[in-house]
Amino acid sequence: MEGVIKKGNAGWWDGSVGYEIYIRSFADSDGDGVGDLPGITGKLEYLSWLGIDLVWITPFYPSPMADFGYDVSDYCGIDSLFGSFEDFDQLIQEAHKQGLRVIIDLVPNHSSSAHPWFESSRSSVDDEYRGYYHWRDPTTDGKPPNNWVSHFGGSAWTLDEESGQYYLHLFLPEQPDLNWNNPRVIQEFDEIIKFWLSRDVDGFRIDVAQGLTKNMLMPDNPIRFQINKNMSPRQVFASFDHRYDLDQAGNLEIFRRWRNLVDPHDALLLGEVYLRDNDPNRVSRYVSSGDALHRAFYFAPMHVPWDPQSMWDTFRDALDAAPEDLSWALSSHDDPRAPTRFGGGEEGKQRALAYSVLLFFLPGLPVIFQGDELGLPSIELELEELADPVATRNAVETDGRDGARTPIPWDSSSGFGFTHGTPWIPIGNRSEKDTVEYQQKTQGSWLMQYQTLLQIRKDNLELDSPLRWVTARDSDVISFSRGGLISALNVGVSGQILSLPNGQWELAFHVGEVVLNDRSVVFAENSAAILILAS
Ligand code: GLC
Repeated sequence: MEGVIKKGNAGWWDGSVGYEIYIRSFADSDGDGVGDLPGITGKLEYLSWLGIDLVWITPFYPSPMADFGYDVSDYCGIDSLFGSFEDFDQLIQEAHKQGLRVIIDLVPNHSSSAHPWFESSRSSVDDEYRGYYHWRDPTTDGKPPNNWVSHFGGSAWTLDEESGQYYLHLFLPEQPDLNWNNPRVIQEFDEIIKFWLSRDVDGFRIDVAQGLTKNMLMPDNPIRFQINKNMSPRQVFASFDHRYDLDQAGNLEIFRRWRNLVDPHDALLLGEVYLRDNDPNRVSRYVSSGDALHRAFYFAPMHVPWDPQSMWDTFRDALDAAPEDLSWALSSHDDPRAPTRFGGGEEGKQRALAYSVLLFFLPGLPVIFQGDELGLPSIELELEELADPVATRNAVETDGRDGARTPIPWDSSSGFGFTHGTPWIPIGNRSEKDTVEYQQKTQGSWLMQYQTLLQIRKDNLELDSPLRWVTARDSDVISFSRGGLISALNVGVSGQILSLPNGQWELAFHVGEVVLNDRSVVFAENSAAILILAS
């Protein structure tokens, strides 16, 4: 079977809806305050009721948890905090029984500094694992080898006093970057991928897919903007042109190699391709040849303001560049939740739901972040409650990620049905109305609307019908059709009119006030609609 690469990116994931589970905060089965694998298994029925096809679980491997699991110390293990292999196998079996697929988070850009490879690597300059990581001498005046910075603040280099050399880490010092120019690292990951495929996973979400290979000459990155000390780590990182540390051509070679491994198992490669300015032409390179990643997350929709021109820029360019193969997220564990981004309060929530009407009907793979379906805003935590190292390790006010990572409110019992114990991070000021239990029995709740929306998608979306824009840049209503379905979102003021193409259109779903007339639709502000051609 080896060597069989199916050209093109089609597969069972076409037409699927994904769901991101941030495992620590989803469901805790044993009362230690941290979500776990059996907790997920207990909620699979809920996920299939909601209309989910594909679940992505964030890292559950053994880890010192410096970055809450994105610092892996054993790629083929399970941290006892999250359960056992028995729990894992049971989760996969149960999921498959219910028609759900499961993809797991592969973290290849860096390991934990507690990984035996790194411990060995740092033990001596002659160690056989030294070349698994990037070690360099200081400059002649004792400084780090170049001007690269870490996503999480400060230089990307840490000096190892003992050997007198620096090692590279694009994230925390506890997350040393692996050297993907070393064939042994490549072989290690082949084995890791095979290991999890043999445990029946349906694919991988690839962490930091843009970062794997580096320019080995390691020149300074050009500076785009003046840096000052009031900037957050994210702003500092964005002040460089990451010409030599990110998005190197070698990344695609690695993913092409992995296609050989996953295609015979019909498994999905979904990449986190987080690139500056989210340039769709660069992101699309990861999918467009049809033999690298099957799907790549395109993150601009997670940062776009509620403004028609920015929305047009975001969606038109991306869909021109990679019409079928992008993945769309409303929120994630790394960014503020959509209702908060769109202004908060009831308006922010309504906008997030209206926006989903657009996002979920685009070609490609939509992925819901746990809690999106409840209309949850981010939680504002007190300074002393913060856990994310991006927040706790930086002096200036930063864009820490805790607010999106608080536990899911399942019911209104103590611990909101998330845990019998003390949650690892405060649940925050959620109310009964935020809970799954309440929303599931309340007609018109956010949850029930999401469920309806996903059902309409399943019943009506013609997967083979390409997207055609119904409106253009001069309209504040962003609208497209796919076969006999129109999706429309009003980002402008009240009273926007959408003229309908020929045919008898019916209003299948709407958010906010939407009036269907004979040949047109009138939209109030913050509204959206799905229209279906009567047969
Ligand atoms: C990705 C993850 C993020 C993590 C980082 C480093 O961006 O989504 O949570 O901190 O990679 O692994």
